[in-house]
Amino acid sequence: MEKIIIKTPEQIEGIRKSCKLAGQTLEYIAPFVKEGASTGLLDQKIEAFIRENGAIPATMGYGGFPKSCCISPNEVVCHGIPSEKTILKNGDILNIDVTTILNGFYGDTSKMFTIGEVSPAALDLIEVTKHSLDLGIQQVKPGNQFGNIGFAISKYVKSNGYSVVYEFCGHGVGIQFHEEPQIDHSSRRNSGPYMKPGMTFTIEPMINQGKPGTVVDKSDKWTARTVDKKLSAQFEHTILVTENGFEVLTDISEEY
Ligand code: MF3
Ligand code: CO
Ligand code: CO
Repeated sequence: MEKIIIKTPEQIEGIRKSCKLAGQTLEYIAPFVKEGASTGLLDQKIEAFIRENGAIPATMGYGGFPKSCCISPNEVVCHGIPSEKTILKNGDILNIDVTTILNGFYGDTSKMFTIGEVSPAALDLIEVTKHSLDLGIQQVKPGNQFGNIGFAISKYVKSNGYSVVYEFCGHGVGIQFHEEPQIDHSSRRNSGPYMKPGMTFTIEPMINQGKPGTVVDKSDKWTARTVDKKLSAQFEHTILVTENGFEVLTDISEEY
């Protein structure tokens, strides 16, 4: 049964606006992501910015998640909970993941930030992760199969000696936070459903330096860390399938 929502032009316009705000939120927070800042402070600023712009942070209360964004430093793969106790230090790398609800429509995006002097190894991981997202995005066009996204990503990532997290995936997004389909970042060529114009979904590869496995924190039930405590990186965009290809709805820098 086909459950992937094809959005109407009106819905796409609403999703486009929410995605733009999510992208602007990451741009807004950048100058505050510095040594000595707590991730809790960054979360407060992100929440205020989203609300000032007439939207709601989607993560707040989602499945009991307590904050307005996810902030995942170093060995944290995803779903890091911002905290006043987590202070950024020289050499840290971190992902900030923002999801907005504007007029009922969802936009979801994340990127990596670096603090001070970061090791060449960490910078390489970040660069490969970003490029893997771009390769995934290039697979988006009507008639292609979703599996080719994960195939492109994993082929490239593995050739660089890194591993693809398989326990967390991309997802349809727009009318709900997490819609069908699930988008694996490691998948078989020519597998999965076919892309059609009007579908909106995320691609959000999490790439590990070491083993692909993750462990969720027993006490907070959210923070997912690499099983070997090595570094992890992630970038995420919300993508629309257009008549000829794709539009990266959360890209505000006109990179794509
Ligand atoms: N924004 C995350 C994603 O990309 C989801 C966070 S859900 C939360 O899908 F509950 F952890 F906030
Ligand atoms: Co997402
Ligand atoms: Co996200």
